[in-house]
Amino acid sequence: MSDLVVGLDVGTRKICTVIGEVRADDIFVVGVGIEPSQGMRKGVVNDMGQLTAAVAASVHKAEKSSGFDISRAFVSVAGGHIASINSRGVVGITGQRGVRVDDLEKAMEAARAIAIPHNREVLHIVPRSYSLDGQERVRSPIGMHGFRLEVETHIITASSTNLANLEQSVHAAGVTVDRFILNPLASGDAVLTDQEREMGVVIIDIGGGTTDLAIFIEGTVWHTAVIPVGGDLITSDITHWMHVPSDSAEAVKIRYGHAQAKAIDPLEMFRVEPFGDGIPVEVQRRELAEIIELRVAELFDMVKKEIKRSGYDGLLRAGAVLTGGCTQLEGIQQIAARELEFPVRMAKPERLTGMADALRSPAYSTSVGLLRLGLKLDPLVRSSLAESNSLPVSGLGRAIGGLFKRLLPDQDQ
Ligand SMILES: Nc1ncnc2c1ncn2[C@@H]1O[C@H](COP(=O)(O)OP(=O)(O)OP(=O)(O)O)[C@@H](O)[C@H]1O
Ligand SMILES: [Mg+2]
Repeated sequence: MSDLVVGLDVGTRKICTVIGEVRADDIFVVGVGIEPSQGMRKGVVNDMGQLTAAVAASVHKAEKSSGFDISRAFVSVAGGHIASINSRGVVGITGQRGVRVDDLEKAMEAARAIAIPHNREVLHIVPRSYSLDGQERVRSPIGMHGFRLEVETHIITASSTNLANLEQSVHAAGVTVDRFILNPLASGDAVLTDQEREMGVVIIDIGGGTTDLAIFIEGTVWHTAVIPVGGDLITSDITHWMHVPSDSAEAVKIRYGHAQAKAIDPLEMFRVEPFGDGIPVEVQRRELAEIIELRVAELFDMVKKEIKRSGYDGLLRAGAVLTGGCTQLEGIQQIAARELEFPVRMAKPERLTGMADALRSPAYSTSVGLLRLGLKLDPLVRSSLAESNSLPVSGLGRAIGGLFKRLLPDQDQ
């Protein structure tokens, strides 16, 4: 029987289940289920019943397309409740011997022993760099001799209640959470190159309800953040401005939307039907673009402030990589480059094999990354075939399982 791995991307806009078969050097996509999301707002559960129904529909579709039943998955998490801090841990090495894995674990444990409020869970703890007897920036100290090992870590935490709501909603749909994975770490795994991660890069995933950031420097994660604003705010601006229902505003955004007003001919017009008497009105496309540009510029201003706040803005030699459904908005790359003052690359999942056509869009970077990163973090969690759907709810402790595993840079690029 083949090993399967499952990613369940619980977005504000869509739920995407991807079933992958683990092959020697690749994950082969054998099933995909994409359904509109319900019961989520800005990356946080606000109606568990609705969310469970949407997750169940997405999982069912993926099961049908693959012919496999699934019972476990790596699940994405975002939302304004995510927080991150950097912390140092120190451990003494006794005896004349090289550093061992358990020394690294002890150092990480010490770093983790910082005050984490009782209502928060550790999602990821990533070793950024080590130093041994004062020698800074040791990449892998295993086997090296020394007396004092220090680790610099990046610790990402989430609200326990928000995680519990998400876990319970997913579980009620028949899926046990193998592990929660922070959105931008998954997206980063799907779209960044090793070189970008090494040089210094910020990945920016703009979805419907959230904008997720992760800064990678020297091959590993140095900073993460979730801004609870995404493309849905643009739709809501259009709704208010044009007095149209939100599904019409969404359709207008997708068909005529543009983030760079000056690129649009002032004479270009389109028709919409506002609320009320149903008589279509003519709208200047450039005016629409002006409204969108304001919102997009504001969003990148927030992103820029977050990057500055991290203190690593001077270290991003590879600039910014944009992904997420909202980055399909025309002109967004130019506004991003203008506001961030970085080179900006647009990205979507590449290098996919199997039934992957539906996933070749920036909206699915997180969905694809979940499989790959999940497997790296928990290499033993492989077979996601239905053993039994009556598996106990995995304790939230599961979310911190693999606490000491390193977020390895991509090895197969
Ligand atoms: N062609 C397009 N042009 C502009 N915007 C688009 C286009 N297609 C999708 N979007 C927008 O992308 C957003 C959805 O992106 P995505 O699918 O990445 O969100 P999500 O993962 O469900 O949400 P989140 O990650 O924020 O919880 C919506 O705001 C949608 O309007
Ligand atoms: Mg998303």
